[in-house]
Amino acid sequence: MKAPQPIPYQGSKRALAPLILRYFPSFSTRIVEPFAGSGAISVASALRNKAERYWLNDLNKPLISLIQEIVENPEIISSKYAKIWNKQLGKEREYYKEVRARFNKSNKPEDFLFILARCVKGAVRYNSNGEFNQSPDNRRKGKRPSNMEKEIFQLSNLLKNRTVFSSHDFKDVLSSVNVEDLVYMDPPYQGTSNKKDSRYLAGLKFHDFVESLNQLNDNQISYIISYDGKLGNKSYGDVLPEFLNLNQILIEVGRSTTATLLGSDEITYESLYLSPALMNKIEIVPEKTVALKSSGQLQLL
Ligand SMILES: C[S@@+](CC[C@H](N)C(=O)[O-])C[C@H]1O[C@@H](n2cnc3c(N)ncnc32)[C@H](O)[C@@H]1O
Repeated sequence: MKAPQPIPYQGSKRALAPLILRYFPSFSTRIVEPFAGSGAISVASALRNKAERYWLNDLNKPLISLIQEIVENPEIISSKYAKIWNKQLGKEREYYKEVRARFNKSNKPEDFLFILARCVKGAVRYNSNGEFNQSPDNRRKGKRPSNMEKEIFQLSNLLKNRTVFSSHDFKDVLSSVNVEDLVYMDPPYQGTSNKKDSRYLAGLKFHDFVESLNQLNDNQISYIISYDGKLGNKSYGDVLPEFLNLNQILIEVGRSTTATLLGSDEITYESLYLSPALMNKIEIVPEKTVALKSSGQLQLL
């Protein structure tokens, strides 16, 4: 079975999940995602039976409420989505705006699911008042209710009765993890996390993040981080400092669209960092650079 993804979310790690999971211990008591987004890594982990329990946290409360509703009440959210989806027919553009305005007032999960399904690239964007302001993709009507229902039930079956949901700052989550957990962190990229940026609801400070990682090391916590982006020789964001003693793996994720348009050969990389405690737990010696082929196979470089 392919990993279900009822929530389209720009920045989802769904495509890279097979590669990232390669560095997970064979089984963990709990997988904790302080920056869960759409929870793609937990979903992929549950599909491969990598843990007993899951903890999904994200500062974006409506997003976490939506995932929780999908997991705990799949029938209700599916039928509400179908009703909203069907109502748009014949007046797609105005209706999207209507649902978006309603979502900004009441933050209902079904409205959020619909606007995420219909908006440009599943990309969340907020204005300075914290209101969702992304435009609709007018070429699409959003995932059909029958397909949405199928994916919602698949996701619910994977995570129901073994997942907790919260919406705290990542630091509050990290202060409650223990040595049996595996923590997977996918924070917003540095270039996208300052106040002016509308890409995510909130950002974080690099120094706070490093300080938290240092604390995790002191407490022998196993963790993995997806962090900086690198296009050719240009790096987006500071690399994590050496004193943290992390094992860095560069993942070749392909050519960027801009680079291809310009006829350039620049390749985009993402980093994965493995914590010292995790390195002691896993058996494989990580490669320095890897790529995921379109077939989903891993290629060592
Ligand atoms: C790159 S996305 C995670 C994507 C996720 N891995 C997936 O597969 O969908 C980063 C997430 O961090 C959340 N976030 C930003 N600042 C945060 C903070 N201080 N504490 C917790 N979550 C935060 C954002 O709302 C966003 O959903």
